Amino acid sequence: MAGPTLRVLEGLDAVARAAAQWVHDRAWAAVNARGRFTLALSGGNTPRALYRRMADGPRLPWDRTVFCFGDERNVPPDSSESNARMAKEALTGQPFVNQSSVYRIKGELPADEAAADYEQTLHTLCPGANGFPGFDLILLGLGPDGHTASLFPHSPALVERKRWVTSNWVEKFRTHRITLTFPVLNAGTEVLFMVAGEDKAWALKEVLKGHAPVSEIPARGVVPTSEKVTFLVDRAAAAGLGQST
Ligand code: 6PG
Repeated sequence: MAGPTLRVLEGLDAVARAAAQWVHDRAWAAVNARGRFTLALSGGNTPRALYRRMADGPRLPWDRTVFCFGDERNVPPDSSESNARMAKEALTGQPFVNQSSVYRIKGELPADEAAADYEQTLHTLCPGANGFPGFDLILLGLGPDGHTASLFPHSPALVERKRWVTSNWVEKFRTHRITLTFPVLNAGTEVLFMVAGEDKAWALKEVLKGHAPVSEIPARGVVPTSEKVTFLVDRAAAAGLGQST
């Protein structure tokens, strides 16, 4: 198993620029090869700079792109915590906003219902070849505790092997999240992690150099069958890796 590719870049802006190029190249390659590009967007703060660059940068095949989400908070779409809102605002001005090919997770529903609803949507959108949907590109972030999407340490969703989408109780936030499961993340054609900031240094070292179980560092459970995983990280996040670019 080759293991993930790591690129250490100057700062968040350089990470966002490299990620925007990545999305651009993969989008056109998929559209030229198959007529459409299926993209799972990540939440949190780090991807905001990427989405802005996608909006302002070289033209993407917006009308041939299917936008989905890797996870969502259990909140309405107008909430400041909503990943759908974050993406919509960052991509403002682009046809993304009013296109019908944006499939958000309905965080306003009870978490189990939102998960079942989104799984149904994904079954319609990307009927998986080997039982799980094959996104062309899955964007992921990394939490300071080693979580990714909404797969948190010691949380119930870590052991889900059948469902595509599940609700997940996150004890430390005393709330549910709705998240894609490991089988879906690992059925993706390619996974791109964006990681920035010194608060991620410990977790990044654990993911790339550690041996902890997935129950403790969930991002270590992202091992796609395609073996195509890349970490675009900034120097601060890479501080624990003992590497310079
Ligand atoms: C979310 C994300 C989550 C995120 C990490 C990193 O909904 O919060 O999907 O997995 O990627 O928590 O978050 P930041 O980018 O905000 O540091």
